[in-house]
Amino acid sequence: MRTLVELRAQAINCQACGLAEKRTHVVFGEGDQLSPLVLVGEGPGEEEDKSGRPFVGRSGKLLDEALAEAGPGRDKVYICNTVKCRAADWSRGKPDNRPPTEEETLACRQWLIPQLEIIKPMVILCIGAPSAKNLIRKNFAITKERGILNPPGETPARAILATLHPSYILRQRNISGDGGYSLLVADIQKAWETAMKLREKFGSHHP
Ligand code: URA
Repeated sequence: MRTLVELRAQAINCQACGLAEKRTHVVFGEGDQLSPLVLVGEGPGEEEDKSGRPFVGRSGKLLDEALAEAGPGRDKVYICNTVKCRAADWSRGKPDNRPPTEEETLACRQWLIPQLEIIKPMVILCIGAPSAKNLIRKNFAITKERGILNPPGETPARAILATLHPSYILRQRNISGDGGYSLLVADIQKAWETAMKLREKFGSHHP
């Protein structure tokens, strides 16, 4: 099996879909490779594309806050995305972020699935609907089904769940209350506690 370093070295040269054309960086992922919990977001935005790091823009700041409040903090988890290059609509002459297409998502599974197989987390937390639709079920309904533990599907984890995306929460906050922030914190807490319990029960896969 390839190491994460080898996989990253291959991924940064990927030309498997059209997103390669306009990217600045392939945003492979970062964090504790031995963590029992992996967070899988949607895909890089402007800041992430510029820096090559996942969740460093406005959504990332909110996610960091929620991770700290929920317990583990950013340092204790591994963070990556459904697609590793920025998906944007260029029809207005400048890039507007958009969700990845099914084709782009499928093309990027050649990196995401091996990445998860190398890390072998106990739990995967999907951040937002595109990630949940990719890893849990095509017709996953994020607002109804978030926070519920699912069997691991095709992933190497022991359980998988989904939560609201921070960018959705930032938009909702302008409309009412905390916009779902407390649900994000609760879901991270559940994911982390489940991951710790499973690691205790089954032991680490890593030497
Ligand atoms: N949104 C995501 O889904 N991923 C990132 O890395 C940044 C914003």
